[in-house]
Amino acid sequence: MKTAQAQKITEKVFWTGAMDWTIRNFHGYSTQRGTSYNAYLVIADKITLVDTVKYPFREELLSRISSVIPPEKIDYIISNHSEMDHSGALPYIIEKTRPEKVFVSVNGAKALRAHFGDIGPLVPVKTGDKISLGNMDVSFIETKMLHWPDSMFSYLHGEEILFSQDGFGMHLASSELFDDENDYAILEQEAAKYYANILLPFSDLITKCVDLYKSLNLKVKYLAPDHGPVWRKHIGDILGLYEKWAQQKPQRRAVIIYDTMWNSTAMMADAIAEGLRVAGVPVRLYPMTASHRSDAVTEVMNSGAVFVGSPTMNNNIFPTIADILCYLKGLKPKNKIGAAFGSFGWSGESVPQLGEFMKGMGIELVSEGISVKYVPDESALLKCRDLGLEAGRRLNEKCG
Ligand code: FEO
Repeated sequence: MKTAQAQKITEKVFWTGAMDWTIRNFHGYSTQRGTSYNAYLVIADKITLVDTVKYPFREELLSRISSVIPPEKIDYIISNHSEMDHSGALPYIIEKTRPEKVFVSVNGAKALRAHFGDIGPLVPVKTGDKISLGNMDVSFIETKMLHWPDSMFSYLHGEEILFSQDGFGMHLASSELFDDENDYAILEQEAAKYYANILLPFSDLITKCVDLYKSLNLKVKYLAPDHGPVWRKHIGDILGLYEKWAQQKPQRRAVIIYDTMWNSTAMMADAIAEGLRVAGVPVRLYPMTASHRSDAVTEVMNSGAVFVGSPTMNNNIFPTIADILCYLKGLKPKNKIGAAFGSFGWSGESVPQLGEFMKGMGIELVSEGISVKYVPDESALLKCRDLGLEAGRRLNEKCG
């Protein structure tokens, strides 16, 4: 792709990344709006490239760099994160540009060598280290587990740009580079989905990371992640959202995740939803034959109550529900109440199995769950509605 051009952020810093309009599955996460792999070119005395892109996009990266300078003029590369969506093109770019140094965290050096062998002149850095690009300086902040053990942020003094790799990013392809050129509601939605699907398990570390960031009192004019738009107008908003998501305080909102074979479990889900609605709790239903796991877990992050419903199939829970529960368990949501429900024909294992699983995830069960043989009659549906009412009452109490 020789026509790809860089986009200017400041007089000295350019976006030279790649736009992936076609991706719809990012290791199990549905990316309906595509994504970007951001890389940034700093035209300092020592010309520096911050991060690279996924391997198939290496020529796009090279073309965007070439629209500013001949790539072989690059002196330094900073690799903030070694996951392949940002490092896949790194060996190729090193080969093409022969940089003097490639700055990485200590864990980053290990990870890059594990992926690519001896790829070049890696120089490990740690929090507080500062390097000179001649007329500009760059400082480093390690951000372990945001999103991998190697992750770090780089801060470009003078231009006041914080390169934050996965942090504050989102899967969103857009021809508009800056946050204020995009619809803020979409940015918030996609940033929440990114947080829920990628960062939720590391929330305690993210709280520490946000605290560290605040304590450093950095002046940040541009917050430049490796996915999605560059923040310049809503930096305070996205930091506030990260603090909120990391705290995982109970929200007055509920989600019902379920699947159904002959509509009985669906009838129960509707009745529970009605109870929650009457209790004044907004509720969303996710029938898993028609929903993606990554959307359902985003709703879980934003909900104080989680209900899971499954019919019994061959003495087990339904496969789509096993999928979402396995995914959800790994994301370690906290401070949730909930209950299990489902219909069965003859043995009825699903509800006890769901209850055990939910308890194991730390969800506080408000009931032992509701099992219904074959089809719920009116009294069973009233029981489901009452379960929704009771959960709504408890959630209202918790939320104050
Ligand atoms: Fe976008 Fe953790 O890589």
